[in-house]
Amino acid sequence: MRGRGDHVEACARDPEGARELRALAGERVRLHRVDVTDATTVRSIADALGSVAVDVVFNVAGTYGGPRQSLAQLAEDLALEDVLRAYDVNARGALRLVLALLPHVRRGTAKRLVHITSGMGSISDNNSGGYLGYRMSKAALNMMSRTLAVDLRGEGITSVVVNPGWVQTDMGGPSAPTPVAESVRGILREVDRVTLADSGEFLNWDGSRSPW
Ligand SMILES: NC(=O)c1ccc[n+]([C@@H]2O[C@H](COP(=O)([O-])OP(=O)(O)OC[C@H]3O[C@@H](n4cnc5c(N)ncnc54)[C@H](OP(=O)(O)O)[C@@H]3O)[C@@H](O)[C@H]2O)c1
Repeated sequence: MRGRGDHVEACARDPEGARELRALAGERVRLHRVDVTDATTVRSIADALGSVAVDVVFNVAGTYGGPRQSLAQLAEDLALEDVLRAYDVNARGALRLVLALLPHVRRGTAKRLVHITSGMGSISDNNSGGYLGYRMSKAALNMMSRTLAVDLRGEGITSVVVNPGWVQTDMGGPSAPTPVAESVRGILREVDRVTLADSGEFLNWDGSRSPW
């Protein structure tokens, strides 16, 4: 995004430890310490932005919630902490960030909210099961986006979810077929293309649509 000349307000839980992100920091890329599960840090980025206008909010932060996601593993501990953790970051955290930054988006020109979901958040495409907490949290994120699309349409604000594909990140692992740069290019292509007519849609990084 820096190569495109965009100004980026990047969030990380540990900006000092985020080596690659720190290397990008400068006039056009500012770093903020934000944990999306912590309302105080989310509020602090909204405060730090002051009267700045934001064109696009990207909700990227995500977690599986924990390694124990199968039916049998979850049944061993009915507290279901991993399910709650996934929901707290992937759904509640995303909503928290949007709510904090809405005043800035209202001042922006593009007025876009982009939430990175997963194919695992698709209900109709779920034929393989497993990953209960992750799937539930991404389905909740999808519903959040659709609801925001309806509620904010009158203000000209677009809200979409984008599935990044299976990507070679820490989460996706080295067996994933898609390099990070390729997925990011595809996501940005989609984000540049969308209009209010696409609001509420479930997009894929490669330009196709995903079933709900
Ligand atoms: N990789 C895939 O194949 C794939 C497929 C479908 C969907 N996705 C989605 O794509 C998004 C990016 O995932 P990824 O593949 O880059 O995963 P990743 O390598 O595990 O990175 C996840 C990122 O989210 C951040 N994060 C986690 N909890 C956070 C919190 N409470 N507050 C702020 N940041 C937090 C992590 O920060 P730390 O560095 O501090 O841990 C990390 O930067 C996620 O929403 C994921 O669900 C990924």
